[in-house]
Parts: sequence; C-alpha cells; structure tokens
Amino acid sequence: MKLSFQLNGRPTEAECEAEETLAEVLRNRLGLTGTKVSCEVQVCGACTVLVGGRPVRACTTLAYEARDRSVLTIEGLAQADGSLHSIQQAFIDEFAFQCGFCTPGMIMATKALLDENPNPSDDEIIHHMDGNICRCTGYVPILKAIKRAAEKINKSK
Ligand code: FES
Ligand code: FES
Repeated sequence: MKLSFQLNGRPTEAECEAEETLAEVLRNRLGLTGTKVSCEVQVCGACTVLVGGRPVRACTTLAYEARDRSVLTIEGLAQADGSLHSIQQAFIDEFAFQCGFCTPGMIMATKALLDENPNPSDDEIIHHMDGNICRCTGYVPILKAIKRAAEKINKSK
C-alpha cells in the first residue's frame, strides 16, 4: 500500500506492507535510522516518535496508523541551519548519554512532555519518562538534562 503522511514537516510517501511497523518504514524504507529499535515489545522506549504530537512506540505502531498524520522523529528536531534543538543540546551539556542507544527515544519523549507541560516537577518528569529505559546513565543526568532543556525553552519564549 502507499502511505502518505507529514514526516518532519514534509509531505512524504512510502510504499509499505500492511504488517510493517512505523519503525520499519522509517528505518528501512525512508533511511531515518535515528529511531532505534531494541525490545520490539513496547517496553524500552528506544523507538519513541511523535505522531500527531503524541509519543508512540514505533516498534508496535503499524505504519498505516500514521497515514495522513504528522510524524516527528529525532531527525526533525534540529533547525534548518543544523543547530540542535534545546533538548538535544541539554542532553549533550549534561552528559545524559553513554552508548546513546536510548537517547533518540528519550529526547522524543522529552519533547512530548515539554510541549504539554513546560514546567514539569521532578516527579512529573520521572512519571512521564518511566517507559524509557537506559542501561548506562543511572538516569540522574537525563533528569538534569530535561530540567535544563525546560529552563532554556522557557527563557526563549
Ligand atoms: S523498541 Fe519499541 S519500545 Fe522497545
Ligand atoms: S545511554 Fe546507553 S542505554 Fe541509555
């Protein structure tokens, strides 16, 4: 089937099979390998992307569920001039990754959180991010990065 949707702000079409996941289409058909796949059973959050502004697990979302909708992946966060999004920069500034495999999903989940709640408390951040697993960092730098990103985004408003 042919799939049409807005991908990172651009009208996009892709061929896909009915059973293909959004992660498979993004990575294998469209070459957007920033979205990572690990558990493939909706547990780790590595594959988090935004569909219609809401975070979804691309490993268990069928691609056709995104038809005619807007999809935002990690590749769509940087500015046109290549400068990083405040969330990406905050993760770098706080050393909030080691192997980096969880990082695109963490950043996309953070984007969804801060779009909805620009001033989250620590508890709200922890609650929102509890579906994103990191085996490397111990989470403290990620919490700091999310708070730093929130501050920077709020200052720029
Ligand atoms: S790869 Fe999708 S939740 Fe783990
Ligand atoms: S930085 Fe390695 S899993 Fe999170």
